[in-house]
Amino acid sequence: MTQTDATDAQYLADYRPYPFILSETRLTFDLSPDATQVQAAISLTPRNGAADLVLDGGRGLDLVSLLIDGTAPDASHVIRDAETLTIRAAALPDRPFTLTSVVRIDPSANTAFEGLYLSNGMFCTQCEAEGFRHITFYPDRPDVMTVFHVTIRSGLPVLLSNGNPLRQKPGLAEWHDPWPKPAYLFALVAGDLAAVSDRFTTASGRDVALNVWVRPGDQDRAGFAMESLIKSMRWDEQVYGREYDLDVFNIVAVDDFNMGAMENKGLNIFNSKLVLASPETATDGDYERIEAVIAHEYFHNWTGNRITCRDWFQLCLKEGLTVFRDQQFTSDMRSAAVKRISDVQTLRARQFREDQGPLAHPPRPDHYQEINNFYTATVYEKGAEVIGMLKHLVGDDGYSRALDLYFDRHDGDAATIEDWLQVFQDATGRDLTQFKYWYTDAGTPRLTMAEDWQDGVLTLRFTQVTPPTPGQPDKPARVIPIAVGLIGPNGDEVAATQILEMTEAHQEFRFKNLGARPVASVLRGFSAPVVLSRDIDDDTRAFLLAHDSDPFARWEAGRDLALSALTQLARGQAAGDGYIGAIGRLIADDSADPAFRALCLTLPGDEEIATRLAAEGHIPDPDAIHAARSDLARRMAEAHQDTLSDIYDRMAVEGPYSPDAEPAEKRSLRIAALGLLNRIDGGDRASVLFGVAGNMTERMAALTCLIRLGRGESALAMIEEQFADNRLVMDKWFTVQVMAAPPADAVAIARDLAGRRDFDWKNPNRFRALLGGLAANHAGFHAADGSGYDFTADWLIRMDAANPQIAARMSTAFETWPRYDPNRRAKALAALEQIAAQPGLSKNTREMVSRMIAAGA
Ligand code: PHE
Ligand code: ZN
Repeated sequence: MTQTDATDAQYLADYRPYPFILSETRLTFDLSPDATQVQAAISLTPRNGAADLVLDGGRGLDLVSLLIDGTAPDASHVIRDAETLTIRAAALPDRPFTLTSVVRIDPSANTAFEGLYLSNGMFCTQCEAEGFRHITFYPDRPDVMTVFHVTIRSGLPVLLSNGNPLRQKPGLAEWHDPWPKPAYLFALVAGDLAAVSDRFTTASGRDVALNVWVRPGDQDRAGFAMESLIKSMRWDEQVYGREYDLDVFNIVAVDDFNMGAMENKGLNIFNSKLVLASPETATDGDYERIEAVIAHEYFHNWTGNRITCRDWFQLCLKEGLTVFRDQQFTSDMRSAAVKRISDVQTLRARQFREDQGPLAHPPRPDHYQEINNFYTATVYEKGAEVIGMLKHLVGDDGYSRALDLYFDRHDGDAATIEDWLQVFQDATGRDLTQFKYWYTDAGTPRLTMAEDWQDGVLTLRFTQVTPPTPGQPDKPARVIPIAVGLIGPNGDEVAATQILEMTEAHQEFRFKNLGARPVASVLRGFSAPVVLSRDIDDDTRAFLLAHDSDPFARWEAGRDLALSALTQLARGQAAGDGYIGAIGRLIADDSADPAFRALCLTLPGDEEIATRLAAEGHIPDPDAIHAARSDLARRMAEAHQDTLSDIYDRMAVEGPYSPDAEPAEKRSLRIAALGLLNRIDGGDRASVLFGVAGNMTERMAALTCLIRLGRGESALAMIEEQFADNRLVMDKWFTVQVMAAPPADAVAIARDLAGRRDFDWKNPNRFRALLGGLAANHAGFHAADGSGYDFTADWLIRMDAANPQIAARMSTAFETWPRYDPNRRAKALAALEQIAAQPGLSKNTREMVSRMIAAGA
């Protein structure tokens, strides 16, 4: 780890093409846990005459030999520093040549899980974004693409790399990937693994061998991942016309993994929690995520691998598009309405939070210190929203023509956001100059709407303002697609959804020839990622909740009712029963979809209430928010006890467990009802359910209820006894008891758990389970005595020395600190300063912490 200061940034404006073209990379690995030897033979051609050859690769690479066309260059022409190896132009031929290096590396000492590392005796790599430089000296940048040929020597039985297998015999495997790719898509796996296998025939008749590799004994939990893969392959052919392009597709599950999963060409590597599932160990939510992430990584084969990014500033080119595609896939597989609503919930919880705080940045940033800090909700989720808006603006047809042109024009390229926008301009004729601000500007626009009704004309007046974000004080108006429909007084739709295109700071739209004053349903489908405020009373919201034909807008009306009650309560004011009444009518309506009713019944979380209060200019009080939420939930339960209890009984799913949408949706409604009833039945239903439920979905729901009431002890002991050897279940066990704990106990519980022998903190899932559980307990993490902040800071410091990426990522628990009261602010700032003062702090964590501290200056 090298120490860097705040001036050590990379700038988009500094992009220069690499001065060499690579035609082939041949790698030979002799695997050994603490002394793996890597030989790399790279075929290079100077692009424009003489240039120094600068290769990435740091101190962790022990250089054994270096040859140019078989001869060692003069030592005076070879310069090494902490991060690179340079061979002076004077030592290079002015024609094509081969550079062959041999290095030794120590996978067993790699606790950062970047580059080549060991996980439970299995060799595994992670190269995105800049991990390949920990394996060998190489131009480790995404615009340098070439064909890879890989030889692996090892006594382990299963030896995998990218592309197609050439030769396999005991102790040796050779792989060839015919598709040129950047180094970040390289992967290697070696271990004692077992496969669930299947086959897939592509639309044009290519026969593909499919394998999901897991630890021997785990095969019975890998079947759902395989089914999801096959569905994804079919879907991408049918919807985007994209076929798979190799003879094999391998997926490997690994227990130690920093992120969710990785799209390495032909060899996707997954966090095991996104592969392994059985009814007894995984929840409905887990199944849905597995299906979505398998799809996501598979879809990257075209959007990310065949067309990659020119540089890491363009990360949202592949991530935004691939998230958008996996969202479309899930809406086709399950309920589109439910998917849209839950995506918006995630966006608000993570991306709006990010955009409103010190870590705000545009989907395409123009500078960074550490790229790993930019795998964010803004790049991923807002990146996907931006594509959704583009699709609204150019229509479904325009979108599909633009995508065909994108694949035609850029297949094999390392592309930019400019390239992406250009295909839309060329395919549809639309000028996207103003649209581009969505990519280059940070911040969530505030949209305010006023209404005017006169002589049969309804006028909607909009104003947009985007608040300042770090480094971007004022911003120009954006183009905002606002989907609007009108509903007549009797509840019938009088104007179907249309897209209003707002391009000015202030703009009005008129609807004429209306008989009676309609109610406007605005921002249907959440057509743009903005915060909308409108002057609307609770009766009108209740009317929309009852009648809106757009499921998102209908849900949103209920959400707004809930939030207005909750924010009033949290500010010590009395709140009316508008929400309680309206929700009662909705849940009794059996014609409404169960999952939709479940979403409407689930109150916004403490974090969301805090975000709303802050957006309205108030200082959120975590304890008051928590109390307000409990109070409203209890009142809902009391008011609707009979309906809820009826729902709870009727939504029980008979027969064997299936993760399909329909039974999962019934369970979600049943669980939502249970969560409310639990407030008044003393936990009786939850403890019965915990005992009888045969699936993890209902057991976890019951366990959460019991923990909330301080009655979780024996249920926790049962889970521990049954699943002590199952890491994924035990991760949930760690999380739930901190997350659902009464806030006043949360830090003490977290401290106890951190002292357990099985708190294997170097495992990213286990660390996240505990620290993320605490961060998700809003009033617990923000305990007024600062204990949540101190506990978290201590662990971040410890983790930083082992795994900087995980420490930096988890430091976002602090990202909202400036919005709290002076006492909490002082304590949070002190914790951040304590981290910043740590000698040898990684560049990753240093960048995050200094951005967060700067917000208090
Ligand atoms: N590219 C991966 C994805 O989104 C995420 C990832 C990034 C994984 C960096 C590992 C390291 O699918
Ligand atoms: Zn991705």
